[in-house]
Amino acid sequence: MGNCQRGRPRDAEPLHTGTRTSPDSKLLQVHDRPTIGDVFPNLKGSTQLSDDFDLYEYIGNDKWGLIFMHPGDFTPVCTTELGAAAGLASEFEKRNVSVVGFSCNNAQSHRDWIVDIKVATGEQVNFPLFCDPDRSHAKWLGILDQNNRDRKGLPMTVRSVYVLKPNKEVALVITYPASTGRNMNEILRVIDSLQVSHEYEVGTPANWTPGGRVLINATLSDNQAEGRYGREQIEYVDVPSERFSGAIRRHYLRYVNDPTVKEQPQEGT
Ligand code: BEZ
Repeated sequence: MGNCQRGRPRDAEPLHTGTRTSPDSKLLQVHDRPTIGDVFPNLKGSTQLSDDFDLYEYIGNDKWGLIFMHPGDFTPVCTTELGAAAGLASEFEKRNVSVVGFSCNNAQSHRDWIVDIKVATGEQVNFPLFCDPDRSHAKWLGILDQNNRDRKGLPMTVRSVYVLKPNKEVALVITYPASTGRNMNEILRVIDSLQVSHEYEVGTPANWTPGGRVLINATLSDNQAEGRYGREQIEYVDVPSERFSGAIRRHYLRYVNDPTVKEQPQEGT
């Protein structure tokens, strides 16, 4: 395991402290939880499919990564989630995304649980589930939830989902409480948003779905935006703060059609 390479300035305040108190009052050295902009560390170890799993190799150089941290095998909410994720395998493939699960259980536990998931949800989990039965990776990643314990009283992993860009930088992390299953349609939607933003210097508005209009980033001047999209394709929203701001018009709210949707050729052209 390597260190997270932080995307924030060296002198920035740390987001998390480096130590936390373990249930038996010993101090555990834990790493800051990876967050947006960090390079997610390479996880090496076992899955239910192999003993020499390497996260970076598995994701590949030109694919996105999706990591589901789940509190534990044989738990009800996680069972439904992994079944739902397995059912969307072709959607993840379409988006060039490699999926991996993670919990503090061993390979045999994962294999037995996958049989249950198939019966319970009708879906076959074919993606790797990382094994961390001694919790060493979870401790180091800072993803143990001290308030949520298994039957033995040991902390379970948080219900987080990480999306990694092809360069292994964290593009998104969302954390849910153990009681709430993740919305897989939202995960697909957010991957669509991340991918369009990554490629086109745009943002996506509230409740955006693919095909909807996007917002041009402030990194592009009006001239640059018009050069890229054409003046007539851009809607500049006329907001009061800009109307009275003198000669400088910032145009911070600029819509354009979803650039991933190609214009259909007109008939006869
Ligand atoms: C669940 O997946 O159902 C679950 C996991 C940990 C604690 C509570 C519920």
